[in-house]
Amino acid sequence: MPHRWIFFRLTKFIHDFLNGGTEIRLIMMPGLRGTGKTTILWQLYRYLLERERIPLDHILFLPVDELRTLIGGNIYDAISCYEELLGSSLEEMREPIFLLLDEVTYDPNWPSAVKAIYDKSPLVFIIVSGSSALALKITSDLARRGVREILYPMNMAEYLMLRHGKYQRRDFTRNLKVALFEGASPEGIVQKLGILHRGLTSIGLDLRNLVVHYLKFGGLPFTMRNGEVAYEQVYDVIERVVNRDFAMIYKMRSETREKAVAILAGLATHPPGPVVISNIAKSLGIKYDTVRKILHALVNSLILYSISPYAKGIAQVRKTRKYCFSTPVVRAALAFRLGWSPDDLLGPMLEDAVLASLVRLKATYPKVIGIHYDPTKGGADAIVEISSVKGTVSIPIEVGWGYKDSRQVKNTMKRLSSPYGIIVDDVVKPELDGNVIHIPKYMFLMM
Ligand SMILES: Nc1ncnc2c1ncn2[C@@H]1O[C@H](COP(=O)(O)OP(=O)(O)OP(=O)(O)O)[C@@H](O)[C@H]1O
Ligand SMILES: [Mg+2]
Repeated sequence: MPHRWIFFRLTKFIHDFLNGGTEIRLIMMPGLRGTGKTTILWQLYRYLLERERIPLDHILFLPVDELRTLIGGNIYDAISCYEELLGSSLEEMREPIFLLLDEVTYDPNWPSAVKAIYDKSPLVFIIVSGSSALALKITSDLARRGVREILYPMNMAEYLMLRHGKYQRRDFTRNLKVALFEGASPEGIVQKLGILHRGLTSIGLDLRNLVVHYLKFGGLPFTMRNGEVAYEQVYDVIERVVNRDFAMIYKMRSETREKAVAILAGLATHPPGPVVISNIAKSLGIKYDTVRKILHALVNSLILYSISPYAKGIAQVRKTRKYCFSTPVVRAALAFRLGWSPDDLLGPMLEDAVLASLVRLKATYPKVIGIHYDPTKGGADAIVEISSVKGTVSIPIEVGWGYKDSRQVKNTMKRLSSPYGIIVDDVVKPELDGNVIHIPKYMFLMM
């Protein structure tokens, strides 16, 4: 299968480790179900064998979910068996050993097991993956020892690569971020975007049209080829998250899990927006705290992202968060199940995709230090806080399916003294309107 971008980042860690260039030898990779975690682990297995020439018995692939559910085993015991097979303890090994642990959260003691195994020998390299909880359960012990690499759903660039075999220049995405968020003036930004846009359109695909297919099917590797049957599969993925992961990891009872599905259904048919927990609690007849726990679990399993309101200092106590889906195909699948046509939800799905790219941006691009929404009425959909030489600047972002006027962005710009604002909409090419930059949807989603 084609390689996702994360594959190259991970092989770099491995290569550096083998060549003495790095201390990092623990990688924790959480990702939504179906994003391709197992595939990447097997791709790394193959890379280790074929490219790095690691002997077969020095690489262990351990599916912890099967270990747990089929034979009731745990990670630590499995590694002891492996040592028996090797005929040597890990401490005594003189060659590097690679442990690929899939679905690690199925062992409730995984953090201490992984820590103990890691500490046995500096020649042990560990990669763990999991669909849930991994994000939170990383203890400070582990955080100090390793790095976290979230496997995100696919952006438009990965989609073009995996589905259409179109590869961008390696630095395209980086240049796009720099152009949008490190530019000196709106005029300069639009000029740089224009150059990048010419490169993008030269690949010979009708990107303006393809963005619809990307939003409906493109976010996960297994949905991009299958059309509407994919929605059944995505729905299965969600059911597995709720019924297996939530039961196993959060010990959630079946009535609560049903409410989780009901909350998702409600979110899927409304545009991303502030979620008032007490309202949901009232309409579903459950406790405030239960709703909070469900939302927390949905965020933790990377189905939803949550975005806090823009507020300074003490005003931050206003805690109503805005939620979006981590990839629009999840919204599409949930709505489809309820009898909606995803074509009627393209606006909210575009907003999911834009907000999700901003959330990823904050995790991967150090200049971006905050992503918020504007809680005032008539304000922009999102606010990006950027650290610059002049201090923190706030850039409002507005999303529109058609061509969007700049009123809302300008409201927010005025309040935050923003040097410029961004509208992601149906423009044909990057364009300037006063201090507001319009950028085509498909181009923004390449980030
Ligand atoms: N790089 C890729 N290119 C094309 N298709 C892919 C790629 N990676 C994964 N897929 C497809 O996506 C499906 C899900 O991948 P995989 O099983 O690796 O995901 P996962 O994150 O381990 O899922 P789960 O959480 O359910 O275990 C696979 O069946 C495969 O067909
Ligand atoms: Mg898997």
